Amino acid sequence: MSDIVIIGADGMLGRCWTELLTARGIGHVATTLAELDIRDSSAVDSFIEPGTEWVVNCAAYTLVDAAEEHEALANEVNGYAVGRMAERCQTVGAKLLHYSTDYVFDGTATTPYPTGHARNPVNAYGRSKALGEELIERSRVEHLLVRSSWLYAPWAKNFVLTIRELAKYRDSLRVVGDQRGRPTDSRKLAEVSLALAEKGRRGVFHVTDAGECSWFELAALIAGVVNPDCRVEPCSSEEFPRPAPRPAYSVLDISATEELVGPLIPWEDRVRDVLARVEG
Ligand SMILES: NC(=O)c1ccc[n+]([C@@H]2O[C@H](COP(=O)([O-])OP(=O)(O)OC[C@H]3O[C@@H](n4cnc5c(N)ncnc54)[C@H](OP(=O)(O)O)[C@@H]3O)[C@@H](O)[C@H]2O)c1
Repeated sequence: MSDIVIIGADGMLGRCWTELLTARGIGHVATTLAELDIRDSSAVDSFIEPGTEWVVNCAAYTLVDAAEEHEALANEVNGYAVGRMAERCQTVGAKLLHYSTDYVFDGTATTPYPTGHARNPVNAYGRSKALGEELIERSRVEHLLVRSSWLYAPWAKNFVLTIRELAKYRDSLRVVGDQRGRPTDSRKLAEVSLALAEKGRRGVFHVTDAGECSWFELAALIAGVVNPDCRVEPCSSEEFPRPAPRPAYSVLDISATEELVGPLIPWEDRVRDVLARVEG
């Protein structure tokens, strides 16, 4: 890949992308929200010009609970702005690598969601991301659409770091045990996305860590590393109500990705690795 524009470069995944391309010596332009608000189509046009080979869109409205109250904003950022970006890419001949979420599915499945499963989001954030997917498909841009779930990294606001902080000082924690999914190391997500792009793959792929767990099981592993004296107990989603409903089962089927890039690494190993890389 060359002539790459990374959008949303100061987000959790965007930072992984800039670090990855810098480490590989791959030239790129990285834009932050302060430099490029994707709702501003003339600004988008000025960054995505003829000669741009790839646009990697890591920008998104990711506040799942706040999206219930601010659905129009979520739709604008995750839906309509993404649609306009896709059309701009199509016009100038750039390829679009975009990220979406397990929350485009309703969580009623009992086996991992294949990439072609029908979208049926249960919350506003999921609806906004599903809108973005639909508008990319409608634009006919050459694209790689990567769905992922439960992202974490040694920086930014994410579940792994939140539990790490809480477990340090608390004797016990209660964490929901009735939502299952696949955690994802954001660095690995960027690496696998790049590998898929370099292999010439297009269309929808699912990329997560291997294995699956509940938030409770994930928290228990984190506490075990940080402070084994902190007792972690499961609770139900009903006991811990949030503004946005969550799908109960949002395990993405990663088998097609693994056929191309080899086995993905179990979440337990990736989480331990990321915890070891946290500064401070
Ligand atoms: N986090 C997860 O668990 C998860 C799960 C599945 C899929 N995903 C998807 O993975 C991708 C990356 O997520 P992430 O966790 O890295 O998100 P993130 O850390 O919230 O980063 C998103 C970045 O986009 C920026 N942004 C917000 N509105 C913007 C706008 N109008 N124009 C330009 N930039 C804007 C944000 O800035 P501010 O922070 O200043 O608002 C932030 O820097 C997203 O597509 C997300 O939907 C995430």
